[in-house]
Amino acid sequence: MDDAAGHGTVPRPIDWAGDHVRLLDQTRLPQDLVFLEITTIEALVEAIQRLAVRGAPALGVAGALGVALAVTTLPEPEWASAIARLRAARPTAVNLARGVDLAARELDRHPGESCRGSVLAAALALRDAEIAASTAMARRGAEELYRVLPDRDRLRLLTVCNTGALAAVERGTALAVVEQVFRDGRLERVIVCETRPLLQGARLTAWELTRWGAPFELIVDAAAAGLIGSGAVDAVLVGADRIAANGDTANKVGTFSLALAARYACPGRPVPFYVVAPESTLDPTTPDGAAIVVEERSGAEVTSVHGIPIAPAGTAALNPAFDVTPTALITGIVTDRRILTSS
Ligand code: MRU
Repeated sequence: MDDAAGHGTVPRPIDWAGDHVRLLDQTRLPQDLVFLEITTIEALVEAIQRLAVRGAPALGVAGALGVALAVTTLPEPEWASAIARLRAARPTAVNLARGVDLAARELDRHPGESCRGSVLAAALALRDAEIAASTAMARRGAEELYRVLPDRDRLRLLTVCNTGALAAVERGTALAVVEQVFRDGRLERVIVCETRPLLQGARLTAWELTRWGAPFELIVDAAAAGLIGSGAVDAVLVGADRIAANGDTANKVGTFSLALAARYACPGRPVPFYVVAPESTLDPTTPDGAAIVVEERSGAEVTSVHGIPIAPAGTAALNPAFDVTPTALITGIVTDRRILTSS
């Protein structure tokens, strides 16, 4: 997997392993590098729901490989319910349902067990397309930053959650742009929001950056607006779980606050705020952000950290896993094919 550019420093988080799905268990990072051999749909749905595999493009590949697993391991009468369970495992990232649908279409084209080869081929083609998309986004995003920030030799970036190889098979989305800037020798540093409650920034993004040897600093989420306001950030880069037809974008909770800070925290000098996502995350069937279903997760993720309670027993908590950033606050959406703007 390693190539001349140094990719491959982060193992693929998901792949097909001959007759089953292999996942890197992201809940165990950064302490343990543990792979899960997933041989049943129940195990895959559970892995998706507890975020052992996560991030929109990786979820799409998980959905598609899940269909391949279903037709490989289950009798035909059970395929439809297995596919429905996979599709509904998490609601916000459009890639999951889209990946499931893409592979399941092969069932209509090749009825019965003869579909197996073409379902797997469709799933692997999606995996390869997401890898290619990551490479395209990385280059396009970096060029866009150099274009809009011509006076800055080396960039100070800020990001949230994990949008790297772990979220997208290889390279990633927003973090792939950071990696490109780093490999171009133009990264001064990237500030990483820890991303409570499940700490994808602290556990996963910091792990990826450490593996590349890139300069970064971890912050508590609440520090972001002040740092943006102090002029310490040249641009904010985030990923996306679903981009509605009007450009409203669902991403990890806290993204909307970053967009507000980028627009208003430095009076008279808005900080560019970019969403980086493959075309597979664009959802033209969802008209706007109000129509996006935001996953509500257990309050226990808020009232505890790694199972250790941090609030009095019985504390009620709200735990929306995502929020929606209005298109008007987004400078541009960098995809593998183009840059979309709301104006
Ligand atoms: O709950 P998660 O960890 O699956 O949320 C992930 C994100 O919000 C990412 O920013 C998004 O999926 C883009 S990943 C390239």
